[in-house]
This record gives sequence, C-alpha cells and structure tokens, in this order.
Amino acid sequence: MKKLIISLLILFTASSCCKQPVTCMIPTEMQETNYQSISEEYKKLVDAAEAVLANSYNPYSKFFVGAAVLAEDGTIISGTNFENAAYGSTICAERAAILKANSMGYRKLKAIAIIGRGQDFEMPEVISPCGSCRQVIYEVSELSKQAMDVLMSNTAKDKIVISSINQLLPMAFGPKDLGVDLEKY
Ligand code: THU
Repeated sequence: MKKLIISLLILFTASSCCKQPVTCMIPTEMQETNYQSISEEYKKLVDAAEAVLANSYNPYSKFFVGAAVLAEDGTIISGTNFENAAYGSTICAERAAILKANSMGYRKLKAIAIIGRGQDFEMPEVISPCGSCRQVIYEVSELSKQAMDVLMSNTAKDKIVISSINQLLPMAFGPKDLGVDLEKY
C-alpha cells in the first residue's frame, strides 16, 4: 500500500510539471515548435546540423550528433561529435561546430542547432546540449553580446525546442566572475 501511494505520488508529480508526461521534461517556458513553423534561416541551420550527422565519429556510443552554428553575417558552420578510446577526450558536436567556426574567423554567433540519432533508431524526443557544451555556448554568448538561441531537434524534425542559453544555464559562471572584459576579443 505504501509503495502504491509513493508510485502514484511520483507519477502525479512527473505528469504535472511538464507538457509530455514521463517521456520528457521540457520546461513550460521553452518554446516547442517544429520544422515547418521556424524561420527560413533556422530551417537552414537545422538542415546543416542534420546534413553532417552521417560524419559523426562514434565507435563507442554509436550515437550520432550534428550541430550547426549561425554567425552574425548569416554564415552557417557545422560539426559532429568525435569520440575517443579515452572516453573523456570525446568532443561533442556543439563544441566541434563552435571551434570550427572560430578557426574560420567566426567567433560571434547568434544561434546553434543540435540534432541526434542512434545507429538504427531515431530520437523521438529532442536532444539537448550537455553541461560542458552549455558552458561553452554561454562563453560565446558573452562574446557575442547576445543570449544565443539553442535549437534542439528530434531526428524527424517534427519536434524542435528553442531556448535561450540563459534558460539552459541559469546563474552561469562567466567572464564577469573573473572581472574580465571581453570587449577586445
Ligand atoms: N554528445 C554530443 O555530441 N553533444 C551533446 O551535447 C551530448 C553528447 C555526444 C558525445 C558522445 O559522442 C555521444 O554523444 C554520446 O554521449
């Protein structure tokens, strides 16, 4: 009886705090949309992330992630996850795209899109950036003087969540905490 009450309590709590009970936990303040409903520029961004999925190097997880960043002038640059036998040395798709953009001379970015899939299965739910990627996206936002939009897509692109990095990483540690002014960077 005690177990039943606890189970019901957990189920009730989970179903009342998000739009899609149990299967996902999208906070209500985040905009949930789909490919058809986003701007042409954002469609291109999601498409660019999707286009590189097949290039993901993932012998260990067999999980494919594609990311693409949107520079201030509209240039789009993509990247994939690149794994390593020393698992911790793996580079996520988001950071790969950001570092590639920087190498190409694009440091100020407006938005980033992320999409993922398994080797032989699609992701019905959107995937979101890991904690380390959120921290790097936040750094770029500070450099760019604008809260970057993060577009998180499921594999079919019929579910896309758009959130600002400030929502994904509240109370972030940043340059201000070290008294650093990024103006000249
Ligand atoms: N991965 C990303 O590329 N981005 C994320 O934000 C989450 C995880 C990759 C890393 C690893 O290659 C695989 O997904 C499984 O964790």
